[in-house]
Amino acid sequence: MSTVTQPSVPENLKSFLSAPKKLLIGGQWVDAKSGKTFDVYDPATDQVVAQAAEGDAADVELAVAAARKAFDSGAWSKMTASQRSRIIWKIGDLIEDNADELAAMETIDNGKPIGVAKAADVALAADMFRYMAGWATKIEGNTIPLNVPYVPGGQFHAYTLKEPVGVVGQIIPWNFPLLMAAWKLGPALATGCTIVLKPAEQTPLSAIRLGELCHEAGLPDGVVNIITGFGETAGAAIAAHDDVDKVAFTGSTEVGKIIIKAAAGNLKKVTLELGGKSPNVIYDDADIETAIAGAADAIFFNQGQVCSAGSRLFVQSGIYDEVVAGVSEIASNMKVGSGFDASTQMGPLVSREQFDRVSGYLKAGLDAGAEASAGGAAIDQPGYFVQPTVLKNASPEMSVVQEEIFGPVVAAMPFTSDTEIACQANDTTYGLAAGIWTRDISKAHKLARQVKAGTVWVNCYSIFDAALPFGGYKQSGWGREMGHAALENYLQTKSVCVSL
Ligand code: NAI
Ligand code: MG
Repeated sequence: MSTVTQPSVPENLKSFLSAPKKLLIGGQWVDAKSGKTFDVYDPATDQVVAQAAEGDAADVELAVAAARKAFDSGAWSKMTASQRSRIIWKIGDLIEDNADELAAMETIDNGKPIGVAKAADVALAADMFRYMAGWATKIEGNTIPLNVPYVPGGQFHAYTLKEPVGVVGQIIPWNFPLLMAAWKLGPALATGCTIVLKPAEQTPLSAIRLGELCHEAGLPDGVVNIITGFGETAGAAIAAHDDVDKVAFTGSTEVGKIIIKAAAGNLKKVTLELGGKSPNVIYDDADIETAIAGAADAIFFNQGQVCSAGSRLFVQSGIYDEVVAGVSEIASNMKVGSGFDASTQMGPLVSREQFDRVSGYLKAGLDAGAEASAGGAAIDQPGYFVQPTVLKNASPEMSVVQEEIFGPVVAAMPFTSDTEIACQANDTTYGLAAGIWTRDISKAHKLARQVKAGTVWVNCYSIFDAALPFGGYKQSGWGREMGHAALENYLQTKSVCVSL
């Protein structure tokens, strides 16, 4: 493995980092009521690079009031859909215009390679707003013929209206900071909702910049409010607030369950995009070279901090050794380093906490008898770097096979028969995604039906598109993000029945 290098922060990012980073409430940038701020770290150096306002329940109170006022005024929800669409589209344009700056923010905040941030995170975020801008003008109900048995001869005109759910709280994680904000804001804005968004405490920067861009695009005051701060304080206040009509959350399954309980107070609507332990299945009739590269990408993309990562690799027994050797070779040759170095393929993990968590899993896996055919340890140097790791001889009861590691660690296991693999693939409490590699299309479609997962990739992995719904079966969540499906999270159906 090559040595980690640490190029310095780009000049153009320095002024943003040193400027005060405030909360966005009712169109104004304000300090937290408590006056508190928290440190923002560069995960490649373990150094503090900025301070952000530490919003808590008091600030959430103001943000929800601002969102309520904006919603009730109709400034957004009653604007013509065509006008709303143009503003949402403009947000996408502004993201693209500022792509270099936003990508650099993602790299210093999250650690990811800057080329990936620009090509994936920023491009997908822009695309999400544009896709949802298109939907704003296409939200429509139905006319429904009635057949009321107890009103003989009755004539009715019945139809449905699709109305925005109201004020929504959105709590997002740190693995794709800007993109997760886009996944959440896009459909909420298209439907006419107003929003209180809380970015993860590890990665507040790009959401703050996005707030500025929303206003540059012409979004009315109070439609998007941004509260940076911690989960247990600001996040919990959003989830529990009686005047929030819906909460959308992406993060750990553990916190997802806390959100459900907090939401029970006013029975706010809840959607959840949670963890995963996704199976990636390679049959012996696959194009092996492509499958090996795909399996490596499925787990090492974004340092493995992807909810849909292909973290359980099932390989048909005849090609198991060859595939494990191939993925291990890719892992061993990966250039790990600062995301600002153009040659870096894998950056650091996002935080000290995540570094400790992943290191703990590596130790637990090796102690339990798994063997590292690549990596297996942290990298001894400043920053939160761990080696891309392939564990073989992993067995189903091990924590590295059952639990989400959220790091660059794949557990490889052999399988023999077609009937056995569906059971093995589904042997998890999660159900977010799955990968299938084979040249036999019938086999691919059969397993795609059997596997309990919200997304199935065949002969590819980690293909995301604003038009394609994404979300979880089982304990991976409730509801779908992206696509037409995401609009439903932010709409209510009203039935209107008229006697003629
Ligand atoms: P987390 O679930 O604690 O944090 C995600 C978001 O929820 C953050 O904005 C956080 O501030 C907020 N939050 C935390 N506690 C909250 C509470 N009580 N009420 C309301 N909001 C709260 O995730 P964390 O601790 O950063 O990572 C832990 C594990 O979660 C990871 O190792 C990974 O397994 C999983 N995870 C899954 C993600 C996904 O995309 N599905 C994203 C991030 C983490
Ligand atoms: Mg947490």
